[in-house]
Amino acid sequence: MSCNVDDVREAQIKAEELRSQVNYHDYLYFVKDAPEVPDADYDELIRRLRAIEEHFPELITPDSPTQRVGGQAATAFGVVEHRLPMLSLANAQNYHQLEAWHKRAAKLTGRDDFQMVCEPKIDGLAVALVYEDGRFVQGATRGDGYHGENITENLRTIRSIPMKLRGKKYPARFEVRGEVYMPKTVFEQLNEDRAERGEPLYANPRNSAAGSVRQLDSRVTASRRLDIFVYQLGWADDGAAPATHHETLRWLHELGFRPNPDAETFSDLEDVQRFYNGWEERRHDLDYEIDGMVVKIDDISLWDELGYVGREPRWAIAYKFPPMQATTKLNKISINVGRTGSLNPYAELEPVQVGGVIVRQATLHNEADIRRKDIRVGDIVIVQRAGDVIPQVVGPVVSRRTGRERRYRLPKKCPVCKSDVERPEGEAMAYCSNMTCPAQMFRWITHFVHVMDIEGLGEKWIEILLENGLIKDPAGIYRLRKKKLIELPRMGEKLADKILANVEAAKGRNLDRLLFALGIRHVGSEIASLLADQFGSLDGLAAASEDEIAEIEGVGPRIAESVRAYFRDRKKKAIVEKLRRSGVNMEQRRNKRTEGPLRGERFVFTGTLAAMSRSRAESLVAALGAEAVSSVTRKVTHLVAGADPGSKLAKAEGYDIDVMDEAAFLSLLREHGVEP
Ligand code: IVH
Repeated sequence: MSCNVDDVREAQIKAEELRSQVNYHDYLYFVKDAPEVPDADYDELIRRLRAIEEHFPELITPDSPTQRVGGQAATAFGVVEHRLPMLSLANAQNYHQLEAWHKRAAKLTGRDDFQMVCEPKIDGLAVALVYEDGRFVQGATRGDGYHGENITENLRTIRSIPMKLRGKKYPARFEVRGEVYMPKTVFEQLNEDRAERGEPLYANPRNSAAGSVRQLDSRVTASRRLDIFVYQLGWADDGAAPATHHETLRWLHELGFRPNPDAETFSDLEDVQRFYNGWEERRHDLDYEIDGMVVKIDDISLWDELGYVGREPRWAIAYKFPPMQATTKLNKISINVGRTGSLNPYAELEPVQVGGVIVRQATLHNEADIRRKDIRVGDIVIVQRAGDVIPQVVGPVVSRRTGRERRYRLPKKCPVCKSDVERPEGEAMAYCSNMTCPAQMFRWITHFVHVMDIEGLGEKWIEILLENGLIKDPAGIYRLRKKKLIELPRMGEKLADKILANVEAAKGRNLDRLLFALGIRHVGSEIASLLADQFGSLDGLAAASEDEIAEIEGVGPRIAESVRAYFRDRKKKAIVEKLRRSGVNMEQRRNKRTEGPLRGERFVFTGTLAAMSRSRAESLVAALGAEAVSSVTRKVTHLVAGADPGSKLAKAEGYDIDVMDEAAFLSLLREHGVEP
């Protein structure tokens, strides 16, 4: 290759710049546990540096980040030297790269029929556990791969790390490796508690797991309910270890360790791809974060033959999912007025791909959160998606500030109706004070229609009805007349009849639904059920004192105050009275007492059923003595998931709930003599 001097100079400058960026991010990641950029951006820096070094090998310096595994061990804990370095894995971002890895391994071993074990790649932190005569004696972090921190005492608090091994057949001294993680539910609770105390939030479960194992007081670690999956035997003093990886996992399990239960063995690469696709879809159902699958060659005797490239083994590869985080520019902060009048700030972003979807907007929660995270207009921000939830802005990339960014202040007037904005004491949210604010009213009506299950009245129709003055509030829906309806463009007689019949049917919904539909601040579907069960009627609730409401388990003073305020409000009271005069049911029918073969069972429906509407499905189970409720709680016994199920399905997985698809539901009905 012939290169001129200028090219080399330029490459050298670029390499130095990349090295200093990588070092900076390594420090944030490994030492401070507070990374500023998503893994994908970091990987890109490394990739660019590697490309330069491959092209100009003379530019490689011994201290280049490509020449070592990661950062440095912080010193608050004792340092442990790893007997065998803790290395990392090469990544594949697509099937093509996976295939290239497989081909290379086939060529080097002279075989193409080898088995591969696929396991979820846990997004936590690697640890090494040393056992002597069957007892746990030392645990360390990965650190820089050669030296880690001694976190033995903290690891002792993790219940799934055995302190004493089961059985008798194990090496006298050996090391097991695995990934410590924080379950997502624990992470969410921890952050909620921290927010309440005004402490900074952890960005993700990985960071909070890393922060938790490095607590100087192991009681704090114990309170964090960490867990571990083991995935490898590090080293062993005698050769009692199994010859394949899948047997190693089974053996570790027998000794009392916890390998991931979802590992599977394949010999065909297309099966690996199918397995990967399946988990990419279902990853959000797990209570821990995974960022890809690790594919390992099963036959351990081939590992030596394959060896390493730099710090990465050739016998394994991390097949990564598309990143769920990305960085992009925050162009503007806008406001969306919610159904209870809350002013919800959201980010307008330079469009960016996150996990295979283009993201243009992301939620910013509230003003306090924007301030706590110090998010400024014009910042480069980290955007994150998780499952089906709305994308969120995690925080700014401070190192990319130019000085032209602007701090944000919530407007003092509602951006839609220009009324004053009020901020109840002790609340993070600000609200538009005008109940008839068009934005607020539109959202309230769509929420009302959705909760009361009034089919046929989509957002478009609600907008048209409001624009034409046919309704002003949710109660107006029950006063719609056919004569006026059919005057609307594209509203035929048939459609009008259908809508009016659905409105009529919705008058009989149970009180818990009505309470949720009323849009009382802080009253979600679960609280609405509690209130309806406790007071039995809307009048009962309206007459209750704040103390009586607050006494209910799970309710509390903040909700009680908001319920009282609602029934004190003249305009709200007028709407409730209009609903009453229209014949809307205001009592809680307790169908728990009904007799029938499904008595005592509670059903929740989610998604769309092909054979019938949701309300028909609900009345059929009610006819069999069961209760149909709208939200997933511990008391629910069955969840029927139709097409495109929502978050209720994921929520049900956390409880002991029988989840069935439509076919199973229909056969259950038939079993009880109901022909759907
Ligand atoms: S095997 C030579 N299996 O991913 C390293 N690693 O990017 C062999 N990880 O440092 C590692 N889940 O911390 C392996 N099922 C799994 C894993 C896993 C997560 C982590 C581990 C490793 C990093 C490499």
